[in-house]
Amino acid sequence: MQDTQKTIERILELKEERNAVILAHNYERGEIQDIADFTGDSLGLSIQATEQEADVIVFCGVNFMAESAAVLSPEKTVLLPEIHAGCPMASMVTAEALRVEKKKYPDAAVVCYVNSTADVKAESDICCTSANAVEVVNSLKEEEVLFVPDKNLADYVSRFTSKKIIPWNGYCPTHNQILTTDVIKAKHEHPGAEVLAHPECRREVIDLADKVFSTTGMVEHVKNAGDEFIIATERGIIHKLQKDNPEKKFYNVSEFTVCPEMKAIDLDSLLLSLEKMQYVITVPEDISAKARIALERMLDIKR
Ligand code: 13P
Ligand code: SF4
Repeated sequence: MQDTQKTIERILELKEERNAVILAHNYERGEIQDIADFTGDSLGLSIQATEQEADVIVFCGVNFMAESAAVLSPEKTVLLPEIHAGCPMASMVTAEALRVEKKKYPDAAVVCYVNSTADVKAESDICCTSANAVEVVNSLKEEEVLFVPDKNLADYVSRFTSKKIIPWNGYCPTHNQILTTDVIKAKHEHPGAEVLAHPECRREVIDLADKVFSTTGMVEHVKNAGDEFIIATERGIIHKLQKDNPEKKFYNVSEFTVCPEMKAIDLDSLLLSLEKMQYVITVPEDISAKARIALERMLDIKR
């Protein structure tokens, strides 16, 4: 406990010395969320990355998030404390494979979920997050949309648009393994609870949910909703939900809702990151310039 306190103090000291800001995704470990200057969903953190005065952004999340921060704030040093923290879904589409697919649908706009590499963003017309995917798609003039890489989010968007959505075959392993049987069991155990699901979940899980939100959407919704919630997304969000609403009850939809990649960073790796200024995330300028256009087009839409 004493060691933990020392680590926290040293992180805070170094943060001042380096003129750094710590951003953490809502799925990060509780202690990382607690020490961060800002927590949020992918969209909120992308916006934060553009608004910081600091010289250094320490991104507690996964690789694609740090890459987006580097693309949006090329003048800043962006650190990812754990170099192997990646997103399996982002690895399910490559720029090369996307180029091949684009040739098959020359009239389609390419929308890429931010859970993708900078190379893939550079091949896309516009990015989206789970918070704004429907608005992004409906803002386009094209009637066909090639949507990469999340097939579940693509399917969710298709419910709210007249456009033809051509999905990629990617998915988030953490959300995709949430099954209807998990939801039914959780509802049976907590009959009064509202079910909140993330749009990375399968269609049949979404059909059983009361509401569908990005992680920050859940945080906002819960403030003015009931007292009990079944949470169908990565369990890290429950730390924030419980902290903001100590009197309310939150239940994980199943015991398997863990993204190991989002748990890779701990206080020790965060401290090392600030001590050694590691791991610096950079994106080659030619890729960065194109990816920036796709990200900025999205940010122009906001939530
Ligand atoms: P949001 O926090 O934007 O809803 O993203 C979910 C996610 O899976 C990030 O990796
Ligand atoms: Fe990727 Fe899913 Fe983990 Fe998010 S929760 S980083 S989408 S694997």
